[in-house]
Parts: sequence; structure tokens; C-alpha cells
Amino acid sequence: MLRPRYVPPEDTFPPNPWAFEAARYDARLAGELTGQAETMFALSNGYLGIRGAVEEGTPAREAGTYLNGFYEHRPISYGEHAYGFPTVGQSILNCPNGTAVKLFVEDEPFVVPRAEVLEYRRSLDLRGGTLNRDVRWMSPTGKRLRMRTVRLVSLAHRHLAAIEFELIAEDADVEVAVSSELDNHQPLSADTTDPRLAEGFVGRVLHPTGTQSEGLRAILSYRTRSSGLSLGCGMDHSIITECSILNESRCDDDFAAIIFRGKLLRNKPLRICKYLSYHYSDDSDTEQILLQTISTLKRARTQGFQAILERQRRDVERFWARADVVVESDNPRTQQTIRWNLFQLLQASERAEGHGIGARGLTGRTYEGHYFWDTEIYVLPFLIFTNPSIARSVLKFRYDMLDKARARARELGHRGATFPWRTINGEEASAYYAAGTAQYHINADIAYALRKYVEVTGDDEFLWSYGAEVLIETARLWFDLGFFSDVKGGRFCINGVTGPDEYTAIVNNNCFTNLMARENLRYAVQTVLALERLRPDQFAALVALTGLERSELGHWEEAAERMYLPYDERLGIHPQDDDFLDLERWDFASTSEDNYPLLLHYHPLNLYRSQVIKQADTVMAMFLLNDHFTREEKRRNFEYYDPLTTHDSSLSVCIQSIVANEIGLDRKAIEYFDFAAAMDMSDIGGNMMHGAHVAAIGGTWLALAYGFAGLRDSEGHISFNPILPKAWSALKLVLTVRGQTFRIEIDHASATYRLLNGVRLEFSHAGEACVLSSAEPVLTRPVGSVRANSCAFGEPN
Ligand code: BGC
Repeated sequence: MLRPRYVPPEDTFPPNPWAFEAARYDARLAGELTGQAETMFALSNGYLGIRGAVEEGTPAREAGTYLNGFYEHRPISYGEHAYGFPTVGQSILNCPNGTAVKLFVEDEPFVVPRAEVLEYRRSLDLRGGTLNRDVRWMSPTGKRLRMRTVRLVSLAHRHLAAIEFELIAEDADVEVAVSSELDNHQPLSADTTDPRLAEGFVGRVLHPTGTQSEGLRAILSYRTRSSGLSLGCGMDHSIITECSILNESRCDDDFAAIIFRGKLLRNKPLRICKYLSYHYSDDSDTEQILLQTISTLKRARTQGFQAILERQRRDVERFWARADVVVESDNPRTQQTIRWNLFQLLQASERAEGHGIGARGLTGRTYEGHYFWDTEIYVLPFLIFTNPSIARSVLKFRYDMLDKARARARELGHRGATFPWRTINGEEASAYYAAGTAQYHINADIAYALRKYVEVTGDDEFLWSYGAEVLIETARLWFDLGFFSDVKGGRFCINGVTGPDEYTAIVNNNCFTNLMARENLRYAVQTVLALERLRPDQFAALVALTGLERSELGHWEEAAERMYLPYDERLGIHPQDDDFLDLERWDFASTSEDNYPLLLHYHPLNLYRSQVIKQADTVMAMFLLNDHFTREEKRRNFEYYDPLTTHDSSLSVCIQSIVANEIGLDRKAIEYFDFAAAMDMSDIGGNMMHGAHVAAIGGTWLALAYGFAGLRDSEGHISFNPILPKAWSALKLVLTVRGQTFRIEIDHASATYRLLNGVRLEFSHAGEACVLSSAEPVLTRPVGSVRANSCAFGEPN
């Protein structure tokens, strides 16, 4: 049931277009909103992520510090085990927390809920890439103090975070102590009522391997109990003040503190810069990890906080230059929400090289830090169009899993490769096969993303060096998984799979899966033939590597040609699978609002035997493979499935918005868009305290680009068919296609295309071929009030 759980009040959370901020103290920030604030104020660079816990350490819900790919194994236990069930899971670990800079004024701890706050502002600066805090308060003995902090997780140095802490006594000298800490709290235990949350661990997971403390620096190091990863984390400080401040330090296996103590003179600030460094590796050389941790700290101290801050601002500026989306409307919250979402995409991906992108980025432990299809289908398009090198690295990371995917295929009795539904290290970590391993579509999703990357960026080299191998192995999987069914007139059928809709499981001929598998098969054939023609040597090497036989190409072609696609003549729709239409409709009228998400209130069997949908499935197919449906089919399918869709997954509304847009359901398009964009800001799912919904965030961009701007990129042909929601007066996007960066500015009358960087770009606008070039870098074309369909809708095949 879609409803905002929280509408940020404007007096506390003003709709600043370049910041998400709490402009005054609201007691709920220390109560029911603590977890939400930690997510909204989280900082990350895609490698290191730190939730927005406050410096004084309390109140806190989960002061998480996560490193992408830093996980521990945990046994998966089943009441009844069966062959092929994964037995070892993976869970992202909460690393030692370094955000604590605790303040004691005349021996009394400063904590906001107990202080007499005079002024308060906490702000995620979306332009500076920092989390800023400014608090003025009256101490219990009547002294006015002001504390300012600036926190960042560096985009330039991915192992580095830094905090600048400034304290001023405004009207009298005062005795203070500041304890800057690095604290290895033990992993939190699990909430067993919500399957989406991370499992807890019993006992110690991080085993100490040594500490080092020297001057204002302290380092802790660990080895994980069973995944065999080594971790080094450390802090160092510099202090600037005219006051006489002494320091002392403490350092043991799980806790280090540098304590600054002295008299703060009136109006003479105490400024402490805290540098934090985190490194991990999968070899056991602890010495090496310690050296790296120290070296990051030394470099940071030499550079100084100001230089790191300035560099951060420049890096964030560069991001906005290539990825900003402007929406002009009467509601300033819209722009703020969009920018917060885009900023999360930067934070989830920018320095993720060598890793994937988790379902919550690095803002929470939900789904255990696992990578799903969310990355390829929801986040990758944004990266492809705004930061192709990161897109490439994310795809390369998938490629690096190929050997494990091959092994998993063997285990499941398949040919080719079967990528894990959810994983950190490449091994399947899904304990519930019906909504996990059975989601074979992830293999085709990867192939789909690969194709989009290659076609939009023109990086054929990637296709030849890595993509082709992935395509061969995934095509093999599909051919092995399906069969030519006599009952279905010799059509190629794929049985026993689960599509994106997790409320309908283990079905035959899921329409989405079959369509995506067909694309995968076709693209594999096309790629192999092109490689043979263009790069005979590389082709020969690939044949030797994969044992590819020519007959396989014929098989794949035939399977694609004869792929069975469910179609119901009577209703004129594509049934979600062979049996979906035989199921009883879910009784929505008698389902109380409190019973959503249904997965927390009904046994899966109740869901599986009903026509009730968790998230866009056939509608998803209509978005991804939009050329394969006529406009009428899209309309009929949408009208059939939309009322059955609960949107219990945050991955749903953005896609419904795009398709609603395409078929002219303008009101629905904007309503769904608003839900997608505000998924976290208004806590639509009721669980954003556990982390930001990265797929919905990527989906928000999809809904802007593919929805309102009407972008399509089939076979690399870029086309736009824009139409603006009535409530907006302009939409502006920056995109990069094959190295050409351009801006599209849409209003109700026209769309203006402007080449910002590049020499030539071909695209079409509402069916008309257009070219931007250095000679003619700006083009303006009319925009109608009803979408022109000529370029977006193809004939079915
Ligand atoms: C959705 C999946 C998604 C996963 C992680 C689930 O609720 O049904 O499609 O991949 O969340 O975001």
C-alpha cells in the first residue's frame, strides 16, 4: 500500500535544492527519527560508507561503518536441507566506528536531547559533499557554546574519511574534554521478524591482530573469523588552537581514544581535524594492511583538512556537471528530493571499483550488503549515461564472477553459467530458492545491461574482451534450461523459474524471463558472429577458452526464434506466466492497510496461489523491451496488471511510472514518480531507517530520463519523446552518449538539445532525425501535449 510514512515538515526540514537539512532541533531526531536521520545523512564513496550517527555517539540506532565487499561468512541452516541449497551465506560487517568525537563540558557529557539548544542545523551539503553540523547551546552552568562539525567521506581517496570539529566558548572560559574515538562495537543481532534485514552473528567476528598508537594516531587491526579478510582502521588528528590543551591516549584491541583536555578560552576556538582510514584485503598480511592504513593517514595529515575539503567540492561539482537533473516546479521539495537521490547514486558508485553496488549502497545492512539485479537494471543505466567508466567497472566485476557462476551452473546441473541472485563474493547467498536461485532472469539482466553499456558508450573492446564470454555462457544456460515443448507446438519453453514478481514463484514461461532470455540468446549469436568477422584471433582464443561449437549458435537462434511467449487472445494481454490467469484474484478490498507489505503478514503460499503482484514484472518487460509490444498491448497489459500490483518492493513504482508515461496515463505517471522519488525522503516502505533504497533511487532517474524525457536507446539509437508533467515547468538532464555530452532542456512547448562536449551526436526527437555538431551545437524542437509515438513504439515480433 503506497503511502508516505513521513512528510518532512518544512520548518524543520526546509526544501533547500542543494541540501538535505534539519534547520532546527526536533526531539524526534533523538527518538523515532534517529534511524531515518542516520540513513538520510549517511556519507559514502562507494567503498567506504558511514551512516549519519551524531558525533557524541548518542542517540544512535545503528552507527554503521561499511566497506564494500567486507563480509563474514555465516552458515545458512535449513530445517530441511535439499541438494544445491547454498550452505554458506555472506553478511556485510559493521566496522569499528570512528565518527565519535564526544564532548564533556565541565565533566558533563554533551548530548543534544539533554542540552538547552539555542540554535541547531544539520545539513547534508549536496554541492560540497559534506555533512555539516552547527549547534549552539547553553551548558548546565549557563555558558554558551558553539560546536561546528564538517564530516566527509572522500571521493578522491577512497580509504579516507575526515571530520573537522570546532568548539567555541562564546561568553566565558570553560573546562572541556573531547574524546575522539575508534570503537569496535560487536555486530548487532538480527531482527528475526523481517527477512530483509541482515542476520546477526553469535560471538566475536573480528579477531584483533594488533594495535598501534603513536602521538595522536591509533590503529586497530583484525582478521575476520571465517571469510579470512584482514581489516585495518585508524585515526589520526591535528589540533589548532590558542588554548592550552593537553592530550592523552588509550588504545586496546577494540577501542582507541585520543582525549583532548584543557581550558577553552572565550572566543578562542579549539579545532580538531580527525582523519579516518579503512583498508581491507583478502590476504593475511596484517603488516601490509597496517602500513596502508598509516600511509592514508599520513597523506591526509600532510594535505590537511582544508585541501581535502576543497578537493571534495571539486569532485562533487564534476559529478553535477555530468549528472544533474533540474526540475522546475512550484514545489521546491521535488528538486531537493531528486538531488538527494542523485547524490546517493554518486555515493553508492563513485569509488566502487572492483566491487558491486549493494541494494542499500553502503547506508545500511539490509539484505546483508548483497548485490542483486538492482545494479544492472536500476543503477547501471544512470552510470552508463553519466559515468561510463564506473559502469564498465561494475560490469567487469560481474565478469570476474564468471568462474563461480560456471561452477554454480554445474552444481545445478546446467551448462553455461548461473549468476547468483544475491551475493558479495560471487557465490549464491540466497537461502530461499523460490525467490532466489529461481530468479534465473538475473542472467539475462546482466546480458541486457552489458548490451546497453556497449551500445550507448561504443566500448566494443569491452564486449570482445569480456562481454562475449558472458554472453556465450548465459546463452548456454538458457538453451540448457529450456526445451522445445511438443505440448506448446514445438515452442521453446522455460519452466520452473521466478520472474521479478516475488509474489508468484516457480512458474512456467514467465513472460519477462522468456523475453529477456530471447534477447540474451540473440545478442550472444550476434556478438559471436561479429567477433569472428572483426577479430578472428580473439574469436579463436574465445572458442578455445569456452569450447564453443558452431552448432550452438544454430541452437540459440532456433530457441530465440521459437521462444514461447504467453498470450491470452481473449483478454489481449500477455499473461505473466502459463498459470497466472488461472489464479484467484487477491481480495484487496478485505486487506487492511496495516497488512502491507504482504510478505510480512501472509504465508508465501497464500501469495503464490493468488493474482497479486509484488513489483512490476510484465510491465517491467514492457519497459526494458519496449519495441516488442504494441501501444495497445502495453495499454491492455498495464491496465490488467496495475491494479494487482502492491508495490511492496521499492523497485516497482518507478517502472510503472515510465510505462504509464508511455501509454499516456499522465496522472499515474507523475503519481508513481512522486512515490519513487520520495521512497526514502517520505519513508514509503517504512524501512528507510535501515538504509537507502538504491534501486528505487536509480529508478527515479530512469523515470525522469526514460519516462518524462522519453529516452529510448534500443540498439544504441538514442531517441527522445518528451512530455512534461503539468505541474512542472521545465526538466533538464545531462547525458553522455559515445563520449558526447549534451543537455536536454524540456518545457511545455519545446525541447532544446545542447552539445556541451563533443563533436557530433545523432539522435531523434519525436521520430525526427536530428544531429548536434560543433557547427550546430544547439537544436530546438517542438513538444506536444500528447506524446508522439512514432519513434518509441514498434510492432510486436
Ligand atoms: C525485490 C527484488 C530486489 C531485492 C533487493 C526485493 O524486495 O523483490 O527484486 O532485487 O529486494 O532490492
